[in-house]
Amino acid sequence: MGSIQNQESHHGSSAGTIRPLDPEEFRRQGHLVIDFLADYYNNVEKYPVRSQVEPGYLKKRMPESAPYDPEPIEEILRDVQKDIVPGITHWQSPSYFAYFPASGSIAGFLGEILGIGFNIVGFNWMSSPAATELESIVMDWLGKMLKLPAKFLFSGGGGGVLQGTTCEAILCTVVAARDQMLKKIGRENINKLVVYGSDQTHSALQKAAQIAGINPNNFRAIATTKDNAFGLTAEAFRAAVESDIESGLVPLFLCATIGTTSSTAVDPLAPLCEVAQEYGIWVHVDAAYAGSVCICPEYRHYLDGIENANSFSLNAHKWFLTTLDCCCLWVKDPSALVKTLSTYPEYLRNKASETKQVVDYKDWQITLSRRFRSLKLWLVLRSYGIANLRKFLRSHVKMAQDFEGLIEMDKRFQVVVPRKFATVCFRMSPSEIGGNHESVTREEAANNFNAKLLESINESGKIYMTHAVIGGVYVMRFAVGASLTENWHVILAWKVVQEHANALLTTP
Ligand SMILES: Cc1ncc(COP(=O)(O)O)c(C=O)c1O
Repeated sequence: MGSIQNQESHHGSSAGTIRPLDPEEFRRQGHLVIDFLADYYNNVEKYPVRSQVEPGYLKKRMPESAPYDPEPIEEILRDVQKDIVPGITHWQSPSYFAYFPASGSIAGFLGEILGIGFNIVGFNWMSSPAATELESIVMDWLGKMLKLPAKFLFSGGGGGVLQGTTCEAILCTVVAARDQMLKKIGRENINKLVVYGSDQTHSALQKAAQIAGINPNNFRAIATTKDNAFGLTAEAFRAAVESDIESGLVPLFLCATIGTTSSTAVDPLAPLCEVAQEYGIWVHVDAAYAGSVCICPEYRHYLDGIENANSFSLNAHKWFLTTLDCCCLWVKDPSALVKTLSTYPEYLRNKASETKQVVDYKDWQITLSRRFRSLKLWLVLRSYGIANLRKFLRSHVKMAQDFEGLIEMDKRFQVVVPRKFATVCFRMSPSEIGGNHESVTREEAANNFNAKLLESINESGKIYMTHAVIGGVYVMRFAVGASLTENWHVILAWKVVQEHANALLTTP
């Protein structure tokens, strides 16, 4: 830490004045940070993909309390490199194949910087008209790219909003559906409302139901089977609904998924929506991961039937080159959201809102204050264009296909569920592994073996994958989607899998 004079110069201040937003100092420090990140990306392949630190590692390296005196950015960045980078799991590494991707891009990062740099708080139109209007425009643009029915677009009476995450989007739609229904049947009947998903639906639905005050006994995770590729069938949905009605309950909400988290299964929208319509059930379509790829005509058919759903969301921060957070939610009837989420205190009253000619996005979401997210999505859409976005998505599908091909050539392994997008679920076959003792069945032995194999692969730091258990089967998930991944990373990844499998198979 330097002298007071030095410290003041770090902040571009004259004696006694603090200038936290000095433009020239911002330029200087900003360049340093961008240089730091560019160097990070030059070196990202050198780091173990999954962080190898132990819990509590950082506390040992950090002072007990915040510094009293200011510190220069150069010193802080040195500590980022020394102390923070080791504790990062490198989601942007080309050898990152875990969970679902968080595909980064220059346009996404710079759009984020622009949005943050303006640092507006765009809760209503008046608080920054550009933020609201750009959001409505990009949501219509993206909606058109997905060929969403006109009813989901502002131009067709619906509309889209950028929220933080799918958890928020589902919660907003559940409460909108809840209040719509309770208006009909009386608030005293909240205990009768039932929420439906499948046993593959993301836990975001359960969380939303809990927060929305749905009786925990009225949460249905309908069983799926391998025979139906782990999709929710309309027959199973109908049976659950009819049984609930018979018990005097009120079916409220179905969350259908395009691309489930465990295995990227797809729920058949058209027949599910048909059942839902029959019983007046709100259908939300969660396409957090796979929604992006539906901008490619060959994948659009997964959205067939969406015209009869009520709401639809995807995470642009997963597989669409846009930084976290950026969940795109479209609704056919924005007034349902507004009725349940709107407040209008005196201190927010303004002429524009009074005219009812503007969108006040605070009424479409949980929080009041909101980020300028549309800038980054706008930059992504403009910088890459539909052509390159499709190219990007298809390149990942192709790499996943190649990986699948490599698995199929090694008869010891099997692809457990058919690949639909760019995620492959595979395992070492039970036939290659011992078991069948009294206490351990062949399947249990296979599950244990594959869990051990995955841990040994991840411990190596060379690649990172995560797992799922689908229909009782432990699988390794190979999710291609990191922006730096090239074909040779996939080939190398397969070699890593084989090496670790060989080592484990020969361990007594
Ligand atoms: C299908 C699906 N839905 C919802 C989510 C949750 O997304 P978020 O973290 O944006 O709430 C995920 C996350 O992976 C997902 O795969």
